[in-house]
Amino acid sequence: MQRSQIPSFEELQYPLPRYSSKNLYYTFISLLLRNIGTLSEGIKIGYRHGFDSGNIMNYIYENNPQGSLYIGEVIDRAFLNQKTCRAFRAIKKIQKDFIINYLKEREGLKTSIVDLASGEADYIYDVLQEESFEVSVLLRDINENTLLESRKVAEGMGLTQNIRYEVGDALDTEGLGNISPKPDLVIEVGLYGIIHEDQKIQDHLKAVKEILDPDALLFNVQTYNEQIELIARALVNQDGDPCVWHLRSADQVVEWAEEAGFRDPQITMDPYGIYAVVMMRG
Ligand SMILES: C[S@@+](CC[C@H](N)C(=O)[O-])C[C@H]1O[C@@H](n2cnc3c(N)ncnc32)[C@H](O)[C@@H]1O
Repeated sequence: MQRSQIPSFEELQYPLPRYSSKNLYYTFISLLLRNIGTLSEGIKIGYRHGFDSGNIMNYIYENNPQGSLYIGEVIDRAFLNQKTCRAFRAIKKIQKDFIINYLKEREGLKTSIVDLASGEADYIYDVLQEESFEVSVLLRDINENTLLESRKVAEGMGLTQNIRYEVGDALDTEGLGNISPKPDLVIEVGLYGIIHEDQKIQDHLKAVKEILDPDALLFNVQTYNEQIELIARALVNQDGDPCVWHLRSADQVVEWAEEAGFRDPQITMDPYGIYAVVMMRG
């Protein structure tokens, strides 16, 4: 796949020179998106909750264009059709398949699943709706509202049995120690790209291994995205700050996971070359 030159993570963290043509371009796009753009339901959700939130992921997965007036729906359709949004939907399916295959491998053994940054956990609900497995699920997220929304989604699907919700910071080692029962499968997808410091991911992987010691770990890595500068310069995250995501190679994160004690990586790329979904064993 032909890859165009994109700015580094370090470059994205700094504002562009005020009068540069690039700065004028992104300022204009940002203004457009924040005004007329919010006629689109998806863009409105993104600016309200953050483009890295569980809420926007859930909306993108549903892929049902909505908006105010005809123009809002047209903009929303274009938003949902962006390569990054298509990649999100593709990895949701890949992640779901990894989870189903893992549960099948367990041949009916009761399985404890913990998702440490679950958002609305759509991929897990799809698994539970499509197949019947003996599972207990703990959904954790740093954002309480996301978990409340997630519970509503589960209720709508008739799926509340054996699912618990808990507000928690995945990077808080002490909090990991309170997780009970110890999980067979730990999921953390959509998390590493929003963590800026490499060291935090390395320490976190070690903590997951030492404290939770799961049989399997499922994560994803955003490896390349030609829209990364548009996302960083025009969109906002959950805290209202620029939505700067840290791209990394899958090999790099796999190496950190191996240093932490995980092994046997199985890697599947999405068809757009943006995300690697990785399953490793404990
Ligand atoms: C991009 S969303 C991914 C949600 C879901 N896992 C998915 O892939 O659809 C990122 C999620 O991570 C949560 N999050 C961010 N930092 C976190 C942290 N330190 N601990 C736990 N959750 C965190 C956010 O609240 C958000 O729900």
